Amino acid sequence: MKASVTKGLGQGFVIEEVELAAPIGHEVRVQVRASGLCHSDLSVATFIGGEFPVVLGHEVAGVVTATGPDVTQVKTGDHVVGSLIQYCGSCVNCLSGRTHICLHPEYTLRAPEEAPRLSWNGAPVAQGMGLGGFAQETLVHENQLAVIPDEMPWAPAALIGCGVLTGAGAVLNSANVQHGETVVVMGAGGVGMNAVSGARLAGAGKIIVTDIEDGKLARARAFGATHVVNSRETDPVEAVRDITGGGAHHVFDFVGARPVTAQGLRMLGSGGGLYLIGVAGNDAGVEVSTMAALGGSQKVQGVYMGSSHLKRDIPFYASMYLQGRMNLDDLVSKEIGLADIEEGYEALKDGTTARVVITDLS
Ligand SMILES: NC(=O)c1ccc[n+]([C@@H]2O[C@H](COP(=O)([O-])OP(=O)(O)OC[C@H]3O[C@@H](n4cnc5c(N)ncnc54)[C@H](O)[C@@H]3O)[C@@H](O)[C@H]2O)c1
Ligand SMILES: [Zn+2]
Ligand SMILES: [Zn+2]
Repeated sequence: MKASVTKGLGQGFVIEEVELAAPIGHEVRVQVRASGLCHSDLSVATFIGGEFPVVLGHEVAGVVTATGPDVTQVKTGDHVVGSLIQYCGSCVNCLSGRTHICLHPEYTLRAPEEAPRLSWNGAPVAQGMGLGGFAQETLVHENQLAVIPDEMPWAPAALIGCGVLTGAGAVLNSANVQHGETVVVMGAGGVGMNAVSGARLAGAGKIIVTDIEDGKLARARAFGATHVVNSRETDPVEAVRDITGGGAHHVFDFVGARPVTAQGLRMLGSGGGLYLIGVAGNDAGVEVSTMAALGGSQKVQGVYMGSSHLKRDIPFYASMYLQGRMNLDDLVSKEIGLADIEEGYEALKDGTTARVVITDLS
């Protein structure tokens, strides 16, 4: 099968003929129908690094074509969406419903002594996040897959796997926003827009979005922001304190630059929470004054994958989309072929592009 291989740091995405093993145990073979381009894969390929060669791609949707002998949760012909959340189902965190912080994520992977899932020219190829979605087919542990209705279109389905779980999950799961509460979304990118959708589903009283580009803010309004603030032109802290009458209940930071995160902390009202999601660089972080935090009963929380349980949340977002209650279509700005990943990432630099999805896998 064809796969887009990243052979080393800064070596881009190159189409190669790659071997995919037959499914064993709980593995599921999936014919990929759509694969989203998330920033994190580009970061791995350009500066974070890891195992090489590797097939990246972790926003993947497709059809089950074969199952290993121990698979019980999906069957051939099912439409599925994958997620990078890897969980065992039996550790103390999984058993308390927090599969996103499973203590044994390696349970979903082959043991080092087993034959690799992917190989190229007879040598092993790593599979990004247990998914390897930049390929015509992939082999995935059944715990990393959720079944979606057949009528769900492929491109928006793929986005659910990372951007939607992260953005909407931060609001619905991590912060557990209650109806009537005020929400601030800092950074109106592809993930932030899903936080706006999540805030609408939660019944947030006010949804304030900040960004530095008017085009992004216009899109945020279309997704359901009740107020937008261009933080290049207006002090966002003053604006939020003004709009909320003293400070917000929940502030979600999808930017992750130190000055922005510090602003987010100052936007909080009594009992408010600041949620850290975006990472703009290695020095991302915030200084918390104990006196201010305890006086206002405030909290700062890091959020991984929207604290999602993929088996519950992926079908939920698909049903919200199919009922017309969640806008995913306007996140799919461009559809490309498997060979065009580099052009796709280039297109993402343009302020008007939310998400690029590979839908031509020929
Ligand atoms: N924590 C997790 O589990 C997780 C999962 C997925 C993605 N992420 C991260 O979430 C972040 C957002 O992802 P995305 O795809 O939406 O990125 P994006 O680049 O599409 O969006 C970021 C937005 O922030 C805006 N921005 C930049 N500087 C700003 C400033 N000073 N004030 C306000 N807005 C500003 C940009 O204009 C852009 O609209 C990324 O850092 C990504 O790596 C985290
Ligand atoms: Zn991602
Ligand atoms: Zn576990």
